[in-house]
Amino acid sequence: MAQGHSENYFGEYRNFWWNKGFLNLMAKRLNLAQHHSLLDVGCGQCHWSKLLVPYLAKPAYVTGIDNDTKWAAEDPEIRAYFHYHQAAFEAVEGNAQALPFADNSFDMVTCQTLLIHVPNPKRAIAEMKRVLKPGGTLLCAEPNNLVQTLIKNSLSATDDIEEVLDHVKYALICERGKKRLGQGDNSVGDLVPGMMAEAGLQDIEVRLSDKAIPMYPPYNTQEQQAALKQWSSGSAWQGTQYSDYDFFRAFGEEYLQFYEDYRAHYGSSGNRMQEAIEDKEYHSAGGAIMYLISGVKQSE
Ligand SMILES: C[S@@+](CC[C@H](N)C(=O)[O-])C[C@H]1O[C@@H](n2cnc3c(N)ncnc32)[C@H](O)[C@@H]1O
Repeated sequence: MAQGHSENYFGEYRNFWWNKGFLNLMAKRLNLAQHHSLLDVGCGQCHWSKLLVPYLAKPAYVTGIDNDTKWAAEDPEIRAYFHYHQAAFEAVEGNAQALPFADNSFDMVTCQTLLIHVPNPKRAIAEMKRVLKPGGTLLCAEPNNLVQTLIKNSLSATDDIEEVLDHVKYALICERGKKRLGQGDNSVGDLVPGMMAEAGLQDIEVRLSDKAIPMYPPYNTQEQQAALKQWSSGSAWQGTQYSDYDFFRAFGEEYLQFYEDYRAHYGSSGNRMQEAIEDKEYHSAGGAIMYLISGVKQSE
């Protein structure tokens, strides 16, 4: 059976996306201990709500919603995890842009790397606000993925300027083409605070995750091993339904020549990286831009 979209994303490395100290701080700042009910939109395997549940007021009620039936089906292990943290858990199938819940249902609504996949993130934010109770908090963890093309590593550090620009151009065309296909904006995190303001949320605050996964030989920490496993299984931020070629075609036929030239020129860069890792020559600080954006629904 072909892999579903989500399997690409759900390697063990997702367990290393946040530093515990940062989450402790955020839980305090966002008063998570005052929130009983949590809705995780685009929950996948609930990696995100599993991190948040220990901070919630008890008893807690966690609902996960996903439009992929695979994740909306109840998983006994996930349920047991929440049970251990004194939280009832319910899995629901549904669309982030038309949430099947009544107005004013949850103390907190959250998502992690969901808005980068939806065709209309403003609509999803409006829906998440609708189902929040007055006084409740919307919390979105969304990245800018484009910056990854400018994160230096020991191989790219000496690339000439034209090559660096080619990598940025390639990633940007993919990002724009994906958006044009209605598959979301990979760097929408930059725009989420403005979208929350437009939706009428108050007290909007933006933080950056302090997580980096530095890679350096001999790559033997748990998180480095998990990241390497993820890298070897393919792109970490592109669905399997569409290829880069589809994104280029959607962006404009005139860019297809650049696509061909790029593939011919840089097609072996994955092997080069693999070899450098095997030779223990690859290293990078492993930075990323992951925003944590919160807003409050005004009490009526
Ligand atoms: C990158 S994964 C993130 C999963 C999870 N939030 C996490 O951080 O591990 C995106 C998830 O959003 C779901 N998704 C995408 N578009 C959706 C939509 N319109 N409504 C509900 N879920 C959606 C996908 O099925 C997938 O499970």
